[in-house]
Amino acid sequence: MDFSIKSFDAKNPLSTLKTGCIAVAVFEDGKLSREAKLLDAKGVIAAALKSGDISGKPGTSLLLRDTHIAAARILLIGLGKEGDTTDKHFNVAVHAVARSFATLGASDAVLALPFSQVKHRDAGDTIRSSVLALREHAYRFDAMKSKKEAMSHGVKKIALAIPAAEAAAAKTALAQSVALANGMDLTKDLGNLPANICTPTYLANTAKKLAKDFKLDVEVLDRKQMQALKMGSFLSVTNGTAEAPKFIVLKHLGGKAKDAPVVLVGKGITFDSGGISLKPGAGMDEMKYDMCGAASVLGTLRAIAEIGLKLNVIGVIPSCENMPSGTATKPGDVVTSMSGQTIEILNTDAEGRLILCDALTYVERFKPAAVVDIATLTGACITALGHHNSGLFTRHDDAHDALAGELLAAGKSTGDTAWRLPIEDSYQEQLKSNFADMANIGGAPAGSITAACFLERYTKKYTWAHLDIAGTAWKSGAAKGATGRPVPLLTAFLLNRVGSKKTAQ
Ligand code: BES
Ligand code: MN
Ligand code: ZN
Repeated sequence: MDFSIKSFDAKNPLSTLKTGCIAVAVFEDGKLSREAKLLDAKGVIAAALKSGDISGKPGTSLLLRDTHIAAARILLIGLGKEGDTTDKHFNVAVHAVARSFATLGASDAVLALPFSQVKHRDAGDTIRSSVLALREHAYRFDAMKSKKEAMSHGVKKIALAIPAAEAAAAKTALAQSVALANGMDLTKDLGNLPANICTPTYLANTAKKLAKDFKLDVEVLDRKQMQALKMGSFLSVTNGTAEAPKFIVLKHLGGKAKDAPVVLVGKGITFDSGGISLKPGAGMDEMKYDMCGAASVLGTLRAIAEIGLKLNVIGVIPSCENMPSGTATKPGDVVTSMSGQTIEILNTDAEGRLILCDALTYVERFKPAAVVDIATLTGACITALGHHNSGLFTRHDDAHDALAGELLAAGKSTGDTAWRLPIEDSYQEQLKSNFADMANIGGAPAGSITAACFLERYTKKYTWAHLDIAGTAWKSGAAKGATGRPVPLLTAFLLNRVGSKKTAQ
């Protein structure tokens, strides 16, 4: 799908744009948007509204063919009450446009929506929503199908019509949005690939390819190097599998050499069977998605590299399979993490925290400005927050409140929302072990919080946040598939850091 900006003004009026279809907004009570008025010299749109064929409620649509302008078709899209357009209304509307465009006989179209007239949103936000909606409808995952469906139908070239005075800013926003969509597609592809293809080695090769394509630095550590680093906790998770573990470090050094980097750490369990604490069979296939944290780190790095973000960002991915076998780690085993702290593994299915804790110790060497880990960490997070919000955890002091605020705001502005949950000493007590410094599980109550408390013990040397994406990274059921979340949140968070030079330390 090819995107561009077309500017319009009095000299280059909207009505002279030659295109297969132009989409414009209409409101309830028969009101036309500014763009609709510009196209309606002959009263075709006003007559359509009067006929009652479209109510103007958000997401309603009507295709007109007898347009009397240069465009072959006009697609009317309802945006609700005039002057009352929320980002939800706008999103419903662009998804309706995307659905129509996907089946249209035209191959090119113009989107002429009121981009800068949405409450609490600027044109940059609505351009991003538009691109993400259109790209979401165009996304197919057919890498594993023997016969690929040809995409013969639908609109492939889309121009966003923008008033000439706003065109320059819109071009930047569009380029960033396309980069974000490209990053999300990578994240979705990696998530959707089966675990027999998307192995730790596959993730490492993907990182190497990104490094080559976008001039990033990459380093991949193998088992021997991890042993030398004393990553006893991470390595214990790999005991039951023949698949080689990888520890991936991918660097986008777009900032000044002396600037402390933001570090993203992604859980890369390419299949989580539970290990000896084996999971039940039903739905176990979905544990191929247990590397979605890692995939979101790669997708975010792809997005910011394409944008050319002037910030130092390091992605770190501990990756392996969690499998049962005669050599697998057993419940009750005690391991020593890279930090020196010992862990009693009471449940081998609480493996995410075991690979993350060593990665969180490893990243101390970067003297980070902030560290954010992203993980499909706990089923309990789905119980707490469902599939709407990712769980956000940090310590509770000023620096961490500021970091949490940045992440929550980035989520809100992109519709990729997170909700904050507490980390407190009373929960830490649940991790007490009779035989080691801590247990790897804290019992049934507050399972996501005790998991975050476990990670917290490995992050004392820097400002840190944890995102539990167990409920948001993929969808189950008929629409089973990766969502690309939280790449929008992470990318906006990083973009905002450059914009405002905020630091959490
Ligand atoms: N990868 C799972 C978490 C998960 C489960 C994510 C289902 C999404 C859907 C994680 O490794 C896990 O197994 N966690 C256990 C922890 C428990 C043993 C303390 C869980 O959530 O049941
Ligand atoms: Mn598990
Ligand atoms: Zn897991």
